Amino acid sequence: MTLSITKRSEALGAEIGGVDLSRPVSKDDFEEILAAWYENIVVVFPDQNLTNEQHIAFSERFGPLEVHPSGKYVLKDYPALLLLTNKRDDQGKYVSLRDGGSVWHSDLSYMGEPSLGSLLYSLEVPETGGDTEWANMYLAYDALPDDLKNRIDGLKAIHQFDQNDNPRLGPPPGMTAEEMKGSIWEKKSAEVKARTPDVIHPIVRTHPVTGRKALFVNRRFTTYVVDMDPDEGESLLLDLFEYAERRENIYRHKWRKNELVLWDNRCTIHLACGGFPDEQIRTMQRTTVRGEVPV
Ligand code: OGA
Ligand code: MN
Repeated sequence: MTLSITKRSEALGAEIGGVDLSRPVSKDDFEEILAAWYENIVVVFPDQNLTNEQHIAFSERFGPLEVHPSGKYVLKDYPALLLLTNKRDDQGKYVSLRDGGSVWHSDLSYMGEPSLGSLLYSLEVPETGGDTEWANMYLAYDALPDDLKNRIDGLKAIHQFDQNDNPRLGPPPGMTAEEMKGSIWEKKSAEVKARTPDVIHPIVRTHPVTGRKALFVNRRFTTYVVDMDPDEGESLLLDLFEYAERRENIYRHKWRKNELVLWDNRCTIHLACGGFPDEQIRTMQRTTVRGEVPV
């Protein structure tokens, strides 16, 4: 064993040391990384110096990459890289998505084949705040009382990209149209809507590799329970979110510069915690690995 693997919390998350991701990772090391990832769901690789090409090359080991369906916010010369930053241009306009991930979600759960995993790289980190949290959705499922497990057995839910279609989310009171631009609250164009039709996924999915059951719903993209009265469905979803987002189920990551974090979107949800002053710059780049139809 050449890599060091250190758990970061009880619930999930581990740090992997002893590997330089700027170079091709050997087959043996990659297998160790995969095993650590399946076990820990979120893995952190500290002190990596990655070019865009190297970030993409390592990500492609996990499968083909998605171009983020928003079409915006991706790097012009590297469409596989989604740019998350609060930087502004000379006119004071935000250059990319500045508040991505600020509601609990699983990346691309609104696609027919949601992402299997994401790889987020920290280029600039604020002094305070800007943490990310992940919740373990295997544990969330396991913790449900039996009657709730029985109730959701076989149920499906609708996932939608457009924030405005979500009955529980609206822009913060008083937010102007100008402020909404480049934020997650910006209305999706007809073109983006056409690219991201509503999809239906099982509320509980089985991980194709580990064979474990995981809760697969999230506040940001899961909007309705199929074949259920909307109020009843909303109350069921809120119950499930509460189980998912319990403190004991969460790993909170305090970012350092030049870290790559890989997570499994099939059995975890995550949240950008925010809470850093806008003068402090936070810049991250993400690749997103295409997944499979959840079953
Ligand atoms: C993401 C995401 C959270 C963050 O990159 O998919 O949700 O803290 N990021 O930047
Ligand atoms: Mn995300």
